[in-house]
Amino acid sequence: MTLLDQTLEDTRATAAATGASATERFRADKASLADTPPERVSTLAREVLEAVHATIRRHDVTYDEFNALKAWLISVGEDGEWPLFLDVWVEHVVEEVNSAQRAGSKGTIEGPFYVPGAPRGTGSTTLSMRADEPGTPLLFTGTVTSVDGTPLPGALVEIWHADADGFYSQFAPDIPEWNLRGAVVADEDGSFSIRTVQPAPYQIPTDGSCGKLIHAAGWHSWRPAHLHLKVGAEGHQLVTTQLYFPGDPHNDDDVASAVKPELMLDPRPAEDGDGAEVVYDFVLDRATTEG
Ligand code: DHB
Ligand code: FE
Repeated sequence: MTLLDQTLEDTRATAAATGASATERFRADKASLADTPPERVSTLAREVLEAVHATIRRHDVTYDEFNALKAWLISVGEDGEWPLFLDVWVEHVVEEVNSAQRAGSKGTIEGPFYVPGAPRGTGSTTLSMRADEPGTPLLFTGTVTSVDGTPLPGALVEIWHADADGFYSQFAPDIPEWNLRGAVVADEDGSFSIRTVQPAPYQIPTDGSCGKLIHAAGWHSWRPAHLHLKVGAEGHQLVTTQLYFPGDPHNDDDVASAVKPELMLDPRPAEDGDGAEVVYDFVLDRATTEG
């Protein structure tokens, strides 16, 4: 049994359990270190340290404060909350820098809860959900095209999101493995259709180290309700993004700073009277050719 299976098996939705799952997930998918040349490591490490030194000087940081920082940094690792911390407070700037040259659909942070390999449909799909899945039904349709307007049949639209209680399958207990996670391959005209339920606003775990920081600083722990997506097609750049719902009280103060005006949905009452429907079209930049 892997540590991931184990944490899934005996968890409650605690920060430590969510953090352990997020840490394992990160190790499995992304932990291979980039081959960064020593000069670049030196520059980046030195500048981060200089920023820390400048903050200490500017604010006359005391030994008690320095030791509180040490204790907190130790506990972030013990709680497995480095993925959460970095995705909430750092990733949005990495995304900004790396997508600055794009002309197509806006991306935003991936966050810690993506799992590759979700069940896949063609053209239209209904995400796996429990028989009594709470939440407003949501029909999500759209097309995938290239920046020149050409439809991209065969494009893959992956989607994952929290349930109506704000929990993600595989990171909270007692939720079926692929609940509210799926993928759909776009039709001949680049269109796709996904049936799901509207997610709830999401609160980052408050009982661990990230929560301790939020509490100590008097911040809040909320992200607005959001759908996560990855949209990719052959010869095109993968877009990792999120879509948001108008009127959410946290659209303007997302703890993860990941909301952009282009990512706001415009849901309408569903034609069949059951829930909401929404259209969002994706435009992909061509892959950059190397050399
Ligand atoms: C976190 C959770 C999310 O669902 C998300 O989109 C971004 C960050 C987090 O807990 O770190
Ligand atoms: Fe999320």
